[in-house]
Amino acid sequence: MTIHIGANPGDIAETVLMPGDPYRAKWAAETFLKDAVCVNQVRGMLGFTGTWNSHRVTIQGSGMGMPSLSIYANELIRDFGAQTLIRIGSCGGMQDHVGIRDVVLAMTASTVSTPSRGIFRELSFAPCADWGLLSAAAAAAQTLGAKTHVGGIYSSDVFYDERPDLNEQMERHGILAVEMEAAELYTLAARYGRRALAVLTVSDHLKTHEALPAEDREKSFGDMVEIALTAAFA
Ligand code: HPA
Repeated sequence: MTIHIGANPGDIAETVLMPGDPYRAKWAAETFLKDAVCVNQVRGMLGFTGTWNSHRVTIQGSGMGMPSLSIYANELIRDFGAQTLIRIGSCGGMQDHVGIRDVVLAMTASTVSTPSRGIFRELSFAPCADWGLLSAAAAAAQTLGAKTHVGGIYSSDVFYDERPDLNEQMERHGILAVEMEAAELYTLAARYGRRALAVLTVSDHLKTHEALPAEDREKSFGDMVEIALTAAFA
């Protein structure tokens, strides 16, 4: 048991999927895992462990934003021995060719700041995905027939953004999409020698202002779970 995860030692699998929303963790566990057991309810940040194709998997909510994800990822890695951590979540499209419903696999995650910023001081650390997971996820997405983009994303600290100039620079430099968690997950994985990836679906678009209709969200989320699980055990 840790401060934020009420699981017992051994309750958490080496492979952990991390959606932002705890109810998405519940849905994914009920939909994709066999014999799923709830292993965390602290603060309502639900976590479940079960099996997928006989592999043990935990699906643990991360909350929104890097400070929240950092708490769960730190405890999963340092106290529960998680080896492979895959964020599954939504992002805002930033390029014309990146459409609503498309899958974005984050090769790198640029950011203004992460909870780890203090370590690096003047150094601009480049958080990046695990290559094995990334290439396996790209193959899985192709098999699924999902329109997929692989490249850099931007992990922001704010959803309601007062700095359009930053988005402009991200767009200019080919950044595919914005979300709020991946850079810290990648940084922690690098620090502790673990594997990490963010599998994202474009839920809204910063340029066209389109948004994914509510009825399409479940299908998109299911595709991400399938891509993440296939990549984890490829
Ligand atoms: N901004 C930040 N995070 C997000 C967005 C966005 O537009 N969409 C989904 N996650």
